[in-house]
Amino acid sequence: MVKIIATKDYEEMSLRVAELIAVEIRGHHDPVIGLATGSTPVGAYRKLIEWYEKGELDFSRVTTVNLDEYKGLDGSNDQSYRDFMHHNLFDHVNIDKTFTYVPDGTEEDPEAACLSYDRIIEETGGIDLQLLGMGHNGHIAFNEPSDHFSRGTTCVALAESTIEANKRFFASADEVPRYAYTMGIGSIMAARKIVIAVSGADKAETVKKAFFGPVTPRVPASILQFHPDCTLVADADALSLL
Ligand code: GLP
Repeated sequence: MVKIIATKDYEEMSLRVAELIAVEIRGHHDPVIGLATGSTPVGAYRKLIEWYEKGELDFSRVTTVNLDEYKGLDGSNDQSYRDFMHHNLFDHVNIDKTFTYVPDGTEEDPEAACLSYDRIIEETGGIDLQLLGMGHNGHIAFNEPSDHFSRGTTCVALAESTIEANKRFFASADEVPRYAYTMGIGSIMAARKIVIAVSGADKAETVKKAFFGPVTPRVPASILQFHPDCTLVADADALSLL
């Protein structure tokens, strides 16, 4: 059963998500935190930065593993997820960037890129808490609706709806990369805890399908119903159809 934390708005959702991450960071000697990109987690990252600045949170022993990266984008490209993480979190806290992992978008050989990221995840000793957002079609990381659940890191062709949704970060839809490397559903499910954050009425229908409908790779987030410790933190708009 997925636990649900219902919040009144995006601000409160961000606070609750940040609290769950902070508890995890404080509770482990060498915490391994799985991080997500997209607009949803930005508010939670802001909170974490605030607590770091107040001296309430220490990132010096934290290892992070990100969910995904566009294939073909270098980490210095300002549309890359590596750059997003620097900008929204890593540059503002005392994390050792050597221990912040994001799939290598510049690796042209998908097999090499995927194997290497699976190895990295394994070598961290496992993810203590994985943060997720959710796409409008129910995708988690870049695991798009499909006829099966992926096990490890894969190279995926982005769905048209995802390209459409993400074009706001690019000059035009044509510039959105068509492929991405993404952590597999199997690796996400292996995280000891999962926190999925969802905000906005435009995701209400998908929230209903993912958490109250059948578990199916057609709605990738629905697999989270089978995770032993998954918490959905969602605002009133996202929960409005329940
Ligand atoms: C992208 C990311 C996902 C993210 C999703 C939703 O496709 N790969 O990890 O969850 O967008 O983004 P947003 O939070 O902006 O709605």
